[in-house]
Amino acid sequence: MRSDENSLSDKSTHSAAFFLDRMQFFYELFPYPNRPFFLRPDPKGSIEAHAGYAHILANSETSPFRGNIDDLQLRDARHAFPVNKRIALVGCGTDEPLLFRTLHPHNPIVAIDLSHRSLLRAEKKIRWHRLKPVMLIHGDAESVLKQEGVFDHIQCFGVLHHQPEPRSLLEAMSKALKSNGTLRLMIYSAKGRQLERGLQRRFHNFWQSLTSEHSESTSAPLATRLHLKWVAFKLFLWRLCLPMLGSGAKSKRFRYIGLSRARLADAFLHPSDHALSLRDTLKWASQCGLELVAYKAKSYDLGWLNVQSHPQISIQTLVDEEERGNISTNIVLVFKKVGNA
Ligand SMILES: C[S@@+](CC[C@H](N)C(=O)[O-])C[C@H]1O[C@@H](n2cnc3c(N)ncnc32)[C@H](O)[C@@H]1O
Repeated sequence: MRSDENSLSDKSTHSAAFFLDRMQFFYELFPYPNRPFFLRPDPKGSIEAHAGYAHILANSETSPFRGNIDDLQLRDARHAFPVNKRIALVGCGTDEPLLFRTLHPHNPIVAIDLSHRSLLRAEKKIRWHRLKPVMLIHGDAESVLKQEGVFDHIQCFGVLHHQPEPRSLLEAMSKALKSNGTLRLMIYSAKGRQLERGLQRRFHNFWQSLTSEHSESTSAPLATRLHLKWVAFKLFLWRLCLPMLGSGAKSKRFRYIGLSRARLADAFLHPSDHALSLRDTLKWASQCGLELVAYKAKSYDLGWLNVQSHPQISIQTLVDEEERGNISTNIVLVFKKVGNA
């Protein structure tokens, strides 16, 4: 595992560096998603995450796969993305390196994360499953990407909306992509997480009081760490009892969290979970040479909005539904790098 400890101090503004330090502190305490390390992802069930799937969507005219995307097999995806092509995982957390190594047994994979503990978990999982190692880099993805050459595919899931400057991370990812390379991005629905963000606001003063000297997990006072773990435990008890507390709607709403401590902390204790506008994200992407080739999200009224299954549904419908607060899932966007911008 390589370490890029200096990347945070290189940030031009103190607040951006402090912001990332605080987030690092959070993910050192609650590595995400931290599934049991013996669980092995099913590559067939995760085919949409395969880089070849994104490449087929992005290059349909030149792709050797001619069928309906729903019939795509793992071998088609592997054929579309040869083993010499490079993959970057931006904000990989504990589980993405294992997923991507399972999907791509031989490709060069660079996995970047701010949280050292998440990377240690990721490494342990890959060793446990006796898979080929992945290059794990500790640091701020924006700085790391500038030093790691170019990639054919980048996955960035659940990371952009946590950034102090989401636009500059998007630009860094675009710069790190080869022409015709693909970016698979997941952002939270801006309005869909209002309940979660309401609770997060209660901890605003707590996060503000964590000074920059304390934001490194090693030097944070024990009392601070114990306090957060205690709150996470109370949230766990609340989640456990939710089905018995009588509110069926609430219980259904938070079913996605399950009983995972990492998910509970991510939903309710996060220090920097911002409402990122889909409209702005699409505008910035287009300005830095990224062309949208696919998207997927679910609307309460219209069902799945998915360009593959419903080509008549335009991205504008998704933007409108999102702005009406009508999106019930995370939003997945696939882009292709056009030109050399
Ligand atoms: C919500 S988790 C998502 C993990 C993983 N992508 C997934 O979907 O399972 C966000 C992860 O991004 C990492 N992260 C956030 N900002 C980052 C940055 N600027 N550079 C590197 N990692 C970052 C966090 O440490 C955390 O592990």
